[in-house]
Amino acid sequence: MNKKPTILVIHGPNLNMLGRREPTWYGSATLEEIDAEIKEAAQEVGMTAETFQSNYEGAIIEKIHQAMETCDGVIINPAAYTHTSVAIRDALLMLDIPIIEVHLSNIYQRETFRHRSFVSDVATARVAGFGKEGYMMAVRALSHMVAKKANVER
Ligand code: DQA
Repeated sequence: MNKKPTILVIHGPNLNMLGRREPTWYGSATLEEIDAEIKEAAQEVGMTAETFQSNYEGAIIEKIHQAMETCDGVIINPAAYTHTSVAIRDALLMLDIPIIEVHLSNIYQRETFRHRSFVSDVATARVAGFGKEGYMMAVRALSHMVAKKANVER
């Protein structure tokens, strides 16, 4: 029997503070609660989700390198690194699997420096402005993308 598809969900800097951090933009759920929901949503569509958060750019990059060998899809909220990190962009460019960029807030309603993303044109798709639901939407979308890719390669 084939192994269940595995997806990696990466949360960037300051997202470990969810629940306490600017709830008007980011909601009141903690990252722990969101991660539990993500894992449940993945199970419902027959996938396994691993979640990872770091406040360090290098740690995020190394996690992306690992995903090259182990994952069928990636969901990433690079947080503030969205707007600054060529290094995270370059790491994502090495992946040959679907990538979904997620933002809790609608970054286009906010300061202009948040309108630029180094990740968007490297990602397969983007979800922004739906709060934590955005992650669940991304999980479901990724399950379709992963299944489609598996069919094409068979
Ligand atoms: C964010 C938006 C970023 O601009 C910000 O730096 C974050 C969170 C979001 O999820 O809405 O940390 O990525």
